[in-house]
Amino acid sequence: MTDRSTLLLASDHAAVDLKNIVAAHLRGRGISVEDMGAHGRESVDYPDYAMRVARPISEGRAERGILLCGTGLGMSMVANRFPHVRAALCNDLFSAGMSRRHNNANVLVLGGRVLGDVLACAIVDAWLDTPFEGGRHQTRLDHFNGGV
Ligand code: RB5
Repeated sequence: MTDRSTLLLASDHAAVDLKNIVAAHLRGRGISVEDMGAHGRESVDYPDYAMRVARPISEGRAERGILLCGTGLGMSMVANRFPHVRAALCNDLFSAGMSRRHNNANVLVLGGRVLGDVLACAIVDAWLDTPFEGGRHQTRLDHFNGGV
């Protein structure tokens, strides 16, 4: 049984190598990670893997996750269909920090065909280490969280 604090991680085939690097990086930081696949480079459909992370977060069974596909676009589109999921596609450091400060993003999405390993891990660190500011930003989240 996975603890709620375990970070859920998934990718499609286009980003499986970067996913494995991110998994090792997270575990190196002492973070508990559940790798929901994909586990090889055989072509798969990204929505199936986005749902493996987004559904448990939407249902309150997990707190946070990271999704990767070629661009990050497909994963973010699917994840954001789930109530209470705030998935942020961040292929730069500034967006990663702001997605936490202002948007309280609970899912980080990365583009495996966009990012190199070092920048991807730096984005992961920025996202993990930046707190939500709350206040007026919570009010703004309430405008749409309350509606789903
Ligand atoms: C797979 O070829 C690619 O379409 C997928 O990884 C992703 O970039 C979709 O948004």
